[in-house]
Amino acid sequence: MHEAKHILSTDQFERDELLELFEEADEMEKILEVGGGDYLHGKIMATLFFEPSTRTRFSFESAMLRLGGSVISNADMVNTSSLKKQESLEDTGRTVSRMADVIVMRHPEAGSVSKLASFCDVPVINGGDGPNDHPTQGLLDLYTIWKERGSLDGLTIGMVGDLKYGRVVHSQCKLLKHFDVKFVLVSPKALAVPEEIGEELAGVGREVKLSEKLEDAIGEMDVISMTRVQEERFKDRSDYEKYAGAYVLDGELMKKAKPDAIVIHPLPRVDEISPEVDDDPRAKYFEQPGNGVAVRMALLKGILMGEDVK
Ligand code: NCD
Repeated sequence: MHEAKHILSTDQFERDELLELFEEADEMEKILEVGGGDYLHGKIMATLFFEPSTRTRFSFESAMLRLGGSVISNADMVNTSSLKKQESLEDTGRTVSRMADVIVMRHPEAGSVSKLASFCDVPVINGGDGPNDHPTQGLLDLYTIWKERGSLDGLTIGMVGDLKYGRVVHSQCKLLKHFDVKFVLVSPKALAVPEEIGEELAGVGREVKLSEKLEDAIGEMDVISMTRVQEERFKDRSDYEKYAGAYVLDGELMKKAKPDAIVIHPLPRVDEISPEVDDDPRAKYFEQPGNGVAVRMALLKGILMGEDVK
């Protein structure tokens, strides 16, 4: 089996590669301005989704189509694939890798996408594996910050909400650690960032401040990264209910934020950002989906045309 260029984890990205990827995504935006290109003509991407998705799946599909490639897709692998007939993930991976040039997968179990990749001889991209990692969302979030602020170094990054189960938070931390940033992590104590991630940030010398109160911390943030309390990860519903609605970013709180701060959110939101914030020029969460298409185009082009993006 040859070595396919999988994207399985944020751990595989280094600072220089991130900066190259952002430049490449900028190039992709130019291709998007003229309606797309024909770079991946004849290539097929398969999407295997075992968890709900709006943005990630459509974004990958849009990216592939904009580059001239084709898509075969299953948004509900749980109910409509042969796994329902007890087929193993292993056999599913082997089968699909005979029919597609690249596979994008989302699954509720941490490590499942890497497991599938070990049976595939085409590149596999992690579209979110349980509470673990969501590398391409982290990449598009960093691209958004880079684009809006011109650089990542020197920024104070606030992360707010469910920092324990939020895979996007984990991905953002693991990518941002390559830059000279300060972290302000706002969550209830029970939903704090996993210990190993805190250690990873400290290990590379990043300053990390913890807070339980958004109103106390918001004024020092250059980036306000909001996240949803991850309802589906709680074993006990009453625990979810305890923390749901813990933080709501509204117009009043935005008055305390820096005039040049930006607000990002991977979406979907539940109630953690009031709709009144949507018209604030600092709100960038509806810019992110478009940035995501450009970043995924850069990744797909890099993988499938053999260029030097991870
Ligand atoms: C996120 C996810 O699926 O992890 N959504 C996304 O990919 N844009 C965030 C979430 O579901 O809270």
